[in-house]
Amino acid sequence: MTLPVEHILEMQGISKAFPGVQALDKTDLFVRKGSIHGLVGENGAGKSTIIKVLAGIYTRDEGTVSINGAACDALAPAVVHEAGVRFIHQELHLVPYFTVAESVFMGQEQHGVLGLAGRRMRRRAEQFLKESLNCELDGKALIRTLSPAEKKLVQIARALIDDKARLVIFDEPTAPLASGETEQVFKAIRRLKERGISMIYVSHYLGEITDLCDEVTVFRNGATVAQLNRVDANSTQTIIHNMVGRDIDALYPEKKHSDGARMFSVSALGDNSRFFNVDLNISAGEVLGVAGLIGSGREEFIDTLYGLRRAEAGDMQFDGRELKLKSPADAVANGIVLVPRDRRNDGLVLNMSVGDNINLASLDEVAWARMEKRGLSLKRANELSEQIDIRPRNPKAITRFLSGGNQQKVVLARWLATQSKLFILDEPTVGVDIGAKVEIYQLIKELAANGAAVIVSSSDPQEMLGLCHRIMVMYRGEVVEDTPIDAIDFDSLLALSTSGARVASTA
Ligand SMILES: Nc1ncnc2c1ncn2[C@@H]1O[C@H](COP(=O)(O)OP(=O)(O)OP(=O)(O)O)[C@@H](O)[C@H]1O
Ligand SMILES: [Mg+2]
Repeated sequence: MTLPVEHILEMQGISKAFPGVQALDKTDLFVRKGSIHGLVGENGAGKSTIIKVLAGIYTRDEGTVSINGAACDALAPAVVHEAGVRFIHQELHLVPYFTVAESVFMGQEQHGVLGLAGRRMRRRAEQFLKESLNCELDGKALIRTLSPAEKKLVQIARALIDDKARLVIFDEPTAPLASGETEQVFKAIRRLKERGISMIYVSHYLGEITDLCDEVTVFRNGATVAQLNRVDANSTQTIIHNMVGRDIDALYPEKKHSDGARMFSVSALGDNSRFFNVDLNISAGEVLGVAGLIGSGREEFIDTLYGLRRAEAGDMQFDGRELKLKSPADAVANGIVLVPRDRRNDGLVLNMSVGDNINLASLDEVAWARMEKRGLSLKRANELSEQIDIRPRNPKAITRFLSGGNQQKVVLARWLATQSKLFILDEPTVGVDIGAKVEIYQLIKELAANGAAVIVSSSDPQEMLGLCHRIMVMYRGEVVEDTPIDAIDFDSLLALSTSGARVASTA
């Protein structure tokens, strides 16, 4: 006789409809006590919705929920909190001018006489970060001085500091981190597991899922299509197959050799603070990757290419002309297309319909006055929505109610449809599911094959190696490498990004 499996969470037959969308359709989610449970599925599959049902943000239409063996008829945020369920949302919600200790205790301050509580809180925050999360931080440090990974850990500490957490839900916790920084968060998660805390982990990085998780649930179109009770490196194929309903044999398209004319070049570009003396050359037909951790100057450099930041030194040449950019509108007027990193905030009007977002100018009217063949690009944008599979395929849907990944796709479709000779794509696939990734890589390849120069800035080394002809690596504001793709591998790319040298120093 086998003992019954003990579940910390049982969600059974959960349905939730929104106007026009069956977001969850008799969905099941069972989380074994003490395990790290991966939750995966394509964009719009219902992952965030079931989490919001559990959190008491949405009310389910049907289905039963029990937490730690106790049935919960009504799920209100206070009830769920009392039951020991904690949520680490994707957004940070930390105040830059608060200290670490203040942030950890925000909303649950301890009061004491003569300011003693302040010191106690600080010590408690430091101790908790160290012992529970494996992170040594000064409780007096200001949030704005921390690395993205450290901020994420403070956010985690804040959810767990009362020591009553039994089930913690992480919604894409590593999306804002560069690959060198995720390990710190993983260590913290493993430490929580040792302490007996159960977890649900949502991510589009399947490598993280197979690395970290003990069991996995796969959603497709709002239904549970697979439950894996054991996970190893070989589970990836099974997961993908269930997620997208087919096998994906090649993630990256075959690269076409390119030897077009010089399209865009930058020499000795600098802003006197975040990056210095940067040279970049790209030809028609070429896909160039720019790698570098957060803080390497990569983001600031890319922003400068697009006129968001001002260059203080150096110059740029585009298609044989000197380029002086005072604003992004200048860049657009010159025919440069940028797909921004923070698409949700920079690229979308959330209260507008999907159709309007695709069809209307999201930047300046100036840009559009100069944009030729507008009708053509609208048609193309609609074709692209089909190709990268924006769901629901309803141009009247309000953008705010699309899933995170589908919002990303809307902006991508808009800009990829534009006629241009130079595309700058900042983190083009963050938050996007694997099926759409394949389509986006294919589109990038086509842009290049049709003679455009494409600069891809990304924190995913795998993606860089798979997609680009050439990679440039930034470290502490300078270019430490500029190499054809076949002269670099995963390890040296990682080492270059994290230490500025091909071989990571062991010191
Ligand atoms: N408040 C809402 N109103 C209307 N439709 C909604 C709302 N919230 C979610 N939806 C729809 O429900 C479906 C499931 O969305 P959900 O956010 O759960 O997807 P997801 O699996 O988290 O996707 P992603 O990986 O892109 O974050 C989508 O079709 C989405 O458009
Ligand atoms: Mg989501």
